[in-house]
Amino acid sequence: MPDKILTNADLEKIVDTSDEWITSRSGIKERRIASPEQASSDLAIEAARRALDDAGITKDDIDLIIVCTATPDTAFPSTACWVQRGLEADHIPAFDVGAACSGFIYGMIVSESLILSGTNKRILLIATEALSKVIDWEERTTCVLFGDGAAAAVLEESDDESGMLAHYWKADGNLAELLLQPGGGSRIPCSLRVLDERLPFLKMRGNEVFKHAVKRMGEAAAKVVEKAGLSTDDIDYLIPHQANIRIINATGRRLNLPDEKVFVNIHKYGNVSCVTVPSGLHEMKETGMLKQGDIIVLVAFGAGFTWGAITYRW
Ligand code: ACO
Repeated sequence: MPDKILTNADLEKIVDTSDEWITSRSGIKERRIASPEQASSDLAIEAARRALDDAGITKDDIDLIIVCTATPDTAFPSTACWVQRGLEADHIPAFDVGAACSGFIYGMIVSESLILSGTNKRILLIATEALSKVIDWEERTTCVLFGDGAAAAVLEESDDESGMLAHYWKADGNLAELLLQPGGGSRIPCSLRVLDERLPFLKMRGNEVFKHAVKRMGEAAAKVVEKAGLSTDDIDYLIPHQANIRIINATGRRLNLPDEKVFVNIHKYGNVSCVTVPSGLHEMKETGMLKQGDIIVLVAFGAGFTWGAITYRW
């Protein structure tokens, strides 16, 4: 996560809001903000280096880089190519996954297929977001919700019982307009008018997104437990996308899980899109919460809409 912390009190000086409103509506107390020089790939490269160190390998041991992001450095080349250059991981393939907040779940599912088919042996999967660069800092309904950060993992075939037990992924493009960055692409190319209308910034109909997120995250979490042939009693932890504490709690209730089994760090980082699930995994691993053999459910929902879940044995 970037060093700079932006608290709710800081936001009170930027837009007409309050700590009380932000905390009660979303559960967020503070978030991290990238520096003006830091793009998504810079955060990604840092996370990738730490993941490689943690796995005890070097960039020469990986054969593919996948970057999940909704805030690419550039529309093209892909952020994965900028990361490949930064890591000096010469000539291995690299591409982005565009599934917004569900990116890491989608990225894990794609990685699993590539590994099982024998196409790749060891994949560096990175989630990275510099949402502060596409947020409208004059729009109080959205600017208080998001933060920046990155997380990375090395994926390979396991030689024991650990790993992915089941996955579930879906999308519904009919609802695309409820959450998007409308301007700056080929539909609404950049122009002074587009800038004037603030279209290159994130737009969200929060209330409607909220209802879909509650429904789809609960549904995906329940389905993926069933697909793994397990019951909710078998689940040690749920690591849900951190978009809103009320959505997190509703997803936990759908699985009948007590609060202590539902991972929460939204108060510290806000909504960091596809980074929230792997950052949760990282935090749980670092603090010793995860024990070998634990059954965890990862679940996310985001723009597209996209949603998905994974049952995983640690
Ligand atoms: N400070 C103070 N007041 C505010 C603020 C603010 N920052 N933002 C909005 N308000 C006001 C509104 O203007 C409105 O006032 P009004 O009643 O006078 O019109 C009132 O607060 C209520 O606004 P709502 O939008 O109805 O508030 P709601 O309870 O729905 O909470 C929120 C808004 C937090 C955005 C919620 O809808 C939400 O979390 N939505 C889901 C977001 C999400 O899940 N995203 C996940 C996928 S997207 C991704 O991760 C990239």
